[in-house]
Amino acid sequence: MKFPCDFLFGAATAAYQVEGAWNEDGKGLSNWDVFSKLEGKTLDGTNGDIAIDHYHRYKEDIALMGEMGLESYRFSIAWTRIYPDGTGRINQKGIDFYNDVIDECMKYGIVPFVTLYHWDLPQALEEKGGWTNKETADAFVRFAETCFDHFGDRVKHWITFNESVYFLRFGYITGAHPPGHHNDQTSFFRAIHQMHRAHALTVIAYKERKQYGEIGFSHGFAPNHALNESKDNIDAENHANMFETFIYLDPVFLGKYPDYCLESLKNRGLLPEISEDDMKLFSRASELIDFVGLNYYHPNTVRKIDPRKASIDYSREASAGKKKQAYYDGYYEIVKPEDREYTRWGWEVDPQALLDGIGMLQDRYGVNIRIYITENGLGDHDEIWDGEVLDQPRIEFIEKHLVALKKGIREGMNIKGYFAWSFIDLLSWLNGYEKQYGFVYVDHNDGLKRKKKKSFDWYKSVIANRGENLKEDKNG
Ligand code: BG6
Repeated sequence: MKFPCDFLFGAATAAYQVEGAWNEDGKGLSNWDVFSKLEGKTLDGTNGDIAIDHYHRYKEDIALMGEMGLESYRFSIAWTRIYPDGTGRINQKGIDFYNDVIDECMKYGIVPFVTLYHWDLPQALEEKGGWTNKETADAFVRFAETCFDHFGDRVKHWITFNESVYFLRFGYITGAHPPGHHNDQTSFFRAIHQMHRAHALTVIAYKERKQYGEIGFSHGFAPNHALNESKDNIDAENHANMFETFIYLDPVFLGKYPDYCLESLKNRGLLPEISEDDMKLFSRASELIDFVGLNYYHPNTVRKIDPRKASIDYSREASAGKKKQAYYDGYYEIVKPEDREYTRWGWEVDPQALLDGIGMLQDRYGVNIRIYITENGLGDHDEIWDGEVLDQPRIEFIEKHLVALKKGIREGMNIKGYFAWSFIDLLSWLNGYEKQYGFVYVDHNDGLKRKKKKSFDWYKSVIANRGENLKEDKNG
């Protein structure tokens, strides 16, 4: 079986992780420009000042995408290039840059797939309370509208938010991302609500423009499974899925928060202010939303924890998923049973769990829910032999997940595309340049020279034959 002809084979990046040029051409300061320079916040003090210099080399990078036959490029727009202070004055040079990137994609027939928010918030807004402040949500909508008005003639696929589950948890609970708060649960739930307001208003603004494209929401999807069938652990699974998936996706697809979460937040005195108007907005936007983007790397195995023993690990390693960690509300913890397969960074490998997870979403949001896998890939320390980057484990990882997707499509899942994370090696927020994901290697000892890896030609051939020859298929 080949993948259907309207299925997009893509790859992704995000502005802060590739662009560099942090203070060029009128760009304003983002929260990451500031946070990454605080002592001990990133691995070896790495930051996105230069990153892989995509800002100056996008033509070379997109030419490589063209050579690969990539069908779609998912990238994000740095809010601070368009509105240096988050709101107010538009910076024309920022508009020019993304016009150029989009036009360059079009030149090779690559479909631009644009994320509006991939974590780099204007610092000016962070200083006024960031996502806990209603004004940030309103400013985001203005930024999004500006993008629709300038780029919407060519960009027909939009993502409002990337992985709110992580940037908000790390920002307000574990402190690994800006604004770096520790266990600030009141702000956390307030920020979730404002993010949802921003999302809903943006979806409505997009549809009112009648640009006849699609808009969705990308979720960091780590479906939770109970360690065993004990009642406590099944409880933990349910709780974890409620607070890590459904609190993010229910407002987007059903227009309301899960009752379970509302009840639990009320009992804990953590319910943010939610107005009737907000709920009307959510409901309206939920009727207009087109797709869910799933960023899937791994499932989680969870078990209930004794709340008296729960403590949050504020280390960077814990947020990067390397350790077993007790979560923010002391209800459950993630465990790593020995009989599972893990990546070098300790993430469980399980393509079937993605299909099971999609099944869970279909039960809740309908069998026809339209899905893009907006991220999936292997973070590894690639082997280099005689100058060749032999990333065979990446090929095997992606192959297994594509095989699972084919199976899902055969079973009737409405999966419309796959974006490998990432097209090119880039800056990892918490792992610097040590953890590589790309099809293209970047030599940090040789002027950021690009070099194709083994996986580059492999993915090229997968695209060319539309996934017909994936290995495990042939083996039955
Ligand atoms: C996702 C993010 O969480 O995972 C990406 O959307 C990120 O921006 C990717 O780079 C991989 O994360 P990490 O920590 O392994 O580099």
